[in-house]
Amino acid sequence: MSALKDLIPVVNKLQDIVTTTNLTELDLPLLTIIGSQSAGKSSVLENIVGKDFLPRGTGIVTRRPLILQLINIQPDDPLVYQNSSSSGPGYPESSDVAEEPTLEDHLRKNADPSGADDQSPVAEWGQFLHLPGKRFYNFQEIRREIEAETARIAGKNKGISRVPINLKIYSPNVLNLTMVDLPGLTKIPIGDQPTDIERQIKNLILEYIARPNAIILAVSPANVDLVNSEALKLARQVDPQGKRTIGVLSKVDLMDHGTNALDILTGKVYPLKLGFIGVVNRSQQDISVNKALFDSLRAEEEFFQSHAAYRNIANRCGTKYLARVLNQTLMNHIRERLPDIKAKLNTLMGQTEQELASYGDMGSVSESNKGGLILQLMTKFATNFVNSIEGNSSSVST
Ligand code: GDP
Ligand code: NA
Ligand code: MG
Repeated sequence: MSALKDLIPVVNKLQDIVTTTNLTELDLPLLTIIGSQSAGKSSVLENIVGKDFLPRGTGIVTRRPLILQLINIQPDDPLVYQNSSSSGPGYPESSDVAEEPTLEDHLRKNADPSGADDQSPVAEWGQFLHLPGKRFYNFQEIRREIEAETARIAGKNKGISRVPINLKIYSPNVLNLTMVDLPGLTKIPIGDQPTDIERQIKNLILEYIARPNAIILAVSPANVDLVNSEALKLARQVDPQGKRTIGVLSKVDLMDHGTNALDILTGKVYPLKLGFIGVVNRSQQDISVNKALFDSLRAEEEFFQSHAAYRNIANRCGTKYLARVLNQTLMNHIRERLPDIKAKLNTLMGQTEQELASYGDMGSVSESNKGGLILQLMTKFATNFVNSIEGNSSSVST
């Protein structure tokens, strides 16, 4: 089966079920990005989302966790036409499965210099939890709001805060997925940072990556020795077997002449089940001259294809490949969680049936009974889904 195509509807259904039944969010995968300061975390995340909207740069830029919920909307979704002054939308209905794009589709589209994205009939917008009802259609403004909101809680002088910023991105071009951009690991306090800044940031990161549903993108810059990678050290603490850690090697373009990352990328240096993927993000210079995302994705592809050391593994390098591995990993994660999800739904079903029985007379269906009936229908739905996935155990080769 095509795991890429199948992933979105599965996540959509699970998301709906979680939202409607108060099943725990633990059942859904959470994508976390960790690494030392300026390793390229925000750049990687932005490339995955396929949109320019995160503050990036040298020094400590990400100073609060950013919980980013990507929400897939379709042209006919009523949300699209809703007045933005409303109290703010909840989750849109899950929509037509076949129409929904994968991360890869999106990257392909973004890589198309004809700018197909700009002609998209559906608006994309962002919405912050701290500004209910306000839609941001301009992604530059989203970036400015993140900066302003960071300063509001964490101050203007490099302080960090564990209070997250919650941002939802509604778009026809994204996968329903929650991601967390975290402050970078740092050792020496600067500005308003407390003396124990290292410990504080570590604890903050651990809070997120310790969750069993967290998939860890551990970003290490290629121009720093891998044995010094703080990201890998932390990831190993919570995921010693490397089952949910994807190694991302950034700044492959910045390595010293005469050196290359081939051994790391082919798994000879540090063992990770899910492997290491090399990427080339936009440089500070690229950011300064506003280099477009699709230009940078294309340049990245060219870099790996034309480089003597990477030519032979170019199909396993770069952002697009990272997106594929991510899809695969998310799919596997969901598969692994299915028995638990099923058990929880069964428990809920049992409770609901008991509740229904205790009312006896089915003629007077109260509100709570209606809820129970809806739950039953949903459970049936979910079970069908579970069965359809379980019956399909083949996977995309990566
Ligand atoms: P973060 O602090 O880990 O979130 O890192 P950012 O994404 O903000 O990136 C830090 C700086 O490194 C920025 O100036 C980026 O332009 C630059 N950068 C990130 N990744 C790469 C890369 O792969 N190659 C090059 N040349 N620069 C990069
Ligand atoms: Na930075
Ligand atoms: Mg950052």
